[in-house]
Amino acid sequence: MVTVSLSGLSLAPIEPSDDEAVRQWYELRCSVVGADQPDDPPPCWVYERGRFRHSWSGVDKTGWLARDAGTVAGGCVLRLPTLDNLHNAEGEILVAPEHRRRGIGRALLAHLRVEATRQGRIRLVGSEVDHPLDPAAPDPAGRFATACAAVPALVETRRRLEVDSVDPAVLARLDAQARAKFQGYSLVQWVGATPQRWLDDAAYLTGRMSTDAPLDDLQWDPEVYDAARIQADDASSLARGLHMVTTAAVHSTGQLVAFTKIVGFATSSWFAGQWNTIVAPEHRGHRLGTLIKVANLRYAVAQRPELRVIDTCNADSNLHMIAINEAMGFRPHRRMAEWQLDL
Ligand SMILES: CC(C)(COP(=O)(O)OP(=O)(O)OC[C@H]1O[C@@H](n2cnc3c(N)ncnc32)[C@H](O)[C@@H]1OP(=O)(O)O)[C@@H](O)C(=O)NCCC(=O)NCCS
Repeated sequence: MVTVSLSGLSLAPIEPSDDEAVRQWYELRCSVVGADQPDDPPPCWVYERGRFRHSWSGVDKTGWLARDAGTVAGGCVLRLPTLDNLHNAEGEILVAPEHRRRGIGRALLAHLRVEATRQGRIRLVGSEVDHPLDPAAPDPAGRFATACAAVPALVETRRRLEVDSVDPAVLARLDAQARAKFQGYSLVQWVGATPQRWLDDAAYLTGRMSTDAPLDDLQWDPEVYDAARIQADDASSLARGLHMVTTAAVHSTGQLVAFTKIVGFATSSWFAGQWNTIVAPEHRGHRLGTLIKVANLRYAVAQRPELRVIDTCNADSNLHMIAINEAMGFRPHRRMAEWQLDL
């Protein structure tokens, strides 16, 4: 293990097999979420540990912990795409609440810059950075990113659905309206990994997520997916304890043409996130998006009756997806941004 000195701190890589270091990263994440997003569940230990041991396919990931006199003061992660986006890097920086405004965030960013540049990357993206909805509320992440000359290349809103407040009559109406345009399709549903027979179609649709969802000013290349990558990501998700519930639409030709996923964690099973939703371009305009989302919500609640809250994150420019989510009852909860920094 190489330990470097950084503005009076020691910075050491997190070895995935080092239980103590991974546990310290997890505790750092818990303290940051508790301070900055008190309405969110605490991070899931199975997921955080799994992030180090079961990387997404096509991504090299390294984490570091910064210690001040032996106490963990912060940490950072660098993710390097290896199959696409070979000029891009993704970075994550966390500073423990009691150690902020001492320059640790800047020092960690400087470290990520050096590491990313050393790996031939020209751009660093801070993905899904969280901000309060109220522009007058404290926004350390936004103030920090602006101070470091990063730009909010893609502005998003995280919407929350309180499952108990969903009006079944509203869902029934959305479902009926969608089914009126549904000739020639059928629905399939599954929990866990993508069934073998749908792997190629799921790979095509997942790849399109990176081109068809709005990117605004974010400079992110199309992602390259094949069946093997879907299988590998499913395996990583399961190893991270994720509970994945999928509803998809199949065209009469036998092709899977749309899918949507709700993903819960091993802990805090009352909470889940909405992941990919996509309809193949030539099948848009048939209300498939609404139909699969309503069906998947019902399916997810049936699978986990304790589910109470689902969060979804959309680019503010993604008007069609936002309209569906609002119709179902999702309401703005936090702001998000993809911050971009040229190196
Ligand atoms: C954002 C975060 C990493 C900043 O860490 P930090 O160690 O406090 O940052 P620094 O001390 O290096 O601050 C650098 C500059 O950012 C700005 N800044 C940081 N936090 C700020 C705040 N709460 N209010 C106003 N400006 C702030 C200031 O300009 C600061 O320089 P200054 O102290 O000389 O005025 C930390 O608040 C954090 O961990 N937040 C939660 C995780 C997160 O959002 N990470 C993603 C960051 S893009």
